Amino acid sequence: MPISFDSEKKIFKLDTSDSSYVMEVYEENYLVHLYYGAKIPDYNLASFKYKGDYASFSPMNINVEDDNFTPDISPLEFPAEGTGDLRESAVAIKNADGNNSTDFRYVSHRIYEGKPGITGMPALWVKDDSEATTLEILMSDDYTGVKAVLIYTVFENYSAMTRSVKIINESDKAVEIERLFSCCVDFQCCDYDMITLYGRWFKERSLNRFPISRARQGVQSKRGQSSHHHNPFGAIVDRDTNEDYGNAYGFNFVYSSNFMFNADVDTHGGTRVLMGLNPEAFGWHLEAGETFEAPEVVMVYSGKGLGEMSRTFHKLYSNHLIRGKWADIKRPLLINNWEATGMDFTGDKLVSFAERAKELGIDMLVMDDGWFGHRDDDTSSLGDWDVNEEKLGGPLKDFVAKINALGLKFGIWYEPEMISRDSNLYREHPDWCIHVPGREKSVGRHQYIIDFGRKEVRDYIYSKMYTVLSECNIDYVKWDFNRCMTEPGSAGLPPERQKEAAHRAILGAYEIMDRLTKDFPHILLENCSGGGGRFDPGMLYYSPQIWTSDCTDPIERLSIQFGTSICYPASTMGAHVSASKRAGFKTKGDIALWGTFGYELDPNKFTQEDAELVKEQVKEYHKYYDIIHKGDLYRLITPDTNDYRCAWMFVTENKNEALLTSVTIKINRDRSYYLKLKGLDPEKYYVDDESGEVYSGALLMNAGLNLSDYPSYDGDSFKIYFRAL
Ligand code: GLA
Repeated sequence: MPISFDSEKKIFKLDTSDSSYVMEVYEENYLVHLYYGAKIPDYNLASFKYKGDYASFSPMNINVEDDNFTPDISPLEFPAEGTGDLRESAVAIKNADGNNSTDFRYVSHRIYEGKPGITGMPALWVKDDSEATTLEILMSDDYTGVKAVLIYTVFENYSAMTRSVKIINESDKAVEIERLFSCCVDFQCCDYDMITLYGRWFKERSLNRFPISRARQGVQSKRGQSSHHHNPFGAIVDRDTNEDYGNAYGFNFVYSSNFMFNADVDTHGGTRVLMGLNPEAFGWHLEAGETFEAPEVVMVYSGKGLGEMSRTFHKLYSNHLIRGKWADIKRPLLINNWEATGMDFTGDKLVSFAERAKELGIDMLVMDDGWFGHRDDDTSSLGDWDVNEEKLGGPLKDFVAKINALGLKFGIWYEPEMISRDSNLYREHPDWCIHVPGREKSVGRHQYIIDFGRKEVRDYIYSKMYTVLSECNIDYVKWDFNRCMTEPGSAGLPPERQKEAAHRAILGAYEIMDRLTKDFPHILLENCSGGGGRFDPGMLYYSPQIWTSDCTDPIERLSIQFGTSICYPASTMGAHVSASKRAGFKTKGDIALWGTFGYELDPNKFTQEDAELVKEQVKEYHKYYDIIHKGDLYRLITPDTNDYRCAWMFVTENKNEALLTSVTIKINRDRSYYLKLKGLDPEKYYVDDESGEVYSGALLMNAGLNLSDYPSYDGDSFKIYFRAL
């Protein structure tokens, strides 16, 4: 049984394929955390609830007989605000009496097969109840009568589990949830590094690694989006953990708005890790009888370094997060007009794109921003989702039919959560945007965020989308979100609910994505937020791919794609060949192959040589699709450790095929370079498909390949496809 409860010792043990997680119900029903790490067979961990000697000044509970136990330095599973544990808390609820001291103790639990969903929110799922086991622990704050349910699901075939929490107001008065983290883990040690993914627009998800010191540290978003700046991912790793060795604990929040990931080192050398809704940008008014469900955190443990942690996330997300028709079947190879034309296009121009694309073997044309209202630049028309027939040369339906007649599928761009200042919709409904009435509104790209927390707003926007999507033969929607949230307030909410505006807005967006994917299950949804400003597991639940970054410079893309691969699989990373100049067509193709692959340029400007290369790349896309989309990723040389070369490989699960890609960033004549491959079967012999050379897996992994035999000038790349004999 992956989850057990020893009723005598009152110990819970949760076992994944490679990890164990242990808790104890202690005196006075404190729920104490005992262990999280590599799998252990037993749970003789009772002493783990004490950290060092008795601490003067630490609050004690007079009902607890054990003099060594103080909630202030013991590891607690759901530490609450202001009542004995004075470190960073996971929950704070302001009671009807105006006080926010909170205290939850264990009441009961249940263990069952399967995994529950979270109402209105993305969450990992199982096809069959046998794939996961869930523990729900009921906790009570007896003073107020408010209950909490801590929910843990173990995926026993993965080194992974999820955690979430719901608050049930069983009292007869309203309360305010001021802070609610979905996950708290008290590690017994303080010698860790933290890894996060930082960035900005055009440079998302660079790796940031630093030693955790004796202070509170972490990352957050208050932007109403998971953000370009900090991804809702964080890892806690041993100081000597690297790509292939050492302990790594990865945390990823299944949520697309304000989050916080924190580590707080206490004075007794413990590290408390918290992840959840950002208390600085969240609050919830909970009436008597109401329930609030928080989003979930995915936790992956690897004892074999970051590479293994990433591969576990990739498999878990491919099999238990991404949904729908497009989860398993080959995605269309697309061409998008954005970088080629901006909003300056006509129907005829796009038809000429489609004609040329068809000759080259491309499957789908995506018409980006600028097809609606009078949108010829970014100052207008968001919200006015009526087709600009003048621009397209007729109704959209007829235009799509022309593209289809050429043998191409058709995709379209939307930004449903936005409203332009210059739009009929804004003139009619100035209060339909996120704002604080009477306060000046900040603009971003001349637009406001529409208030998707309001049902009438959601229904209106969706009805406009529904008309277009049901009348025209549309196979793909790119769903964009191009500014961050300021003045987070809603004209639809009473004063005591204003802090709910951002969370309600994302719940509204999730609802519309849910409706869209249910009403049009054939549509492939690709998320986007000025590139990768909402590249998170919440969005992946609705859209199997996300535009990774607006930066399509292939060399810059290396660090963006390496960083993104920390927890997100290749099949989710939108990657296109563009007209950017920093490397040749071949290198651009090799880098974009590590993703969903497509083109973002004017195909009529191809030289003959480029056109031949495109045909070659299209063939490679089909040939290597399964290896890249379903195989295991091994990062060999990462851009943050080496400015000379980058290399990565994909290996199929049966280890019979592998694809190595290497890119020279800057030539370095000081060294010949032996590159050791990873992930192969040492016992097998592999043939390099092109040269016919045969090597054992053991040789390739231990002696390596001599790269001086391959193209190595600035911006060069090469791929080697290995097949087991
Ligand atoms: C965002 C996207 C781009 C493009 C533009 C259109 O920046 O990331 O790919 O769709 O919007 O306005």
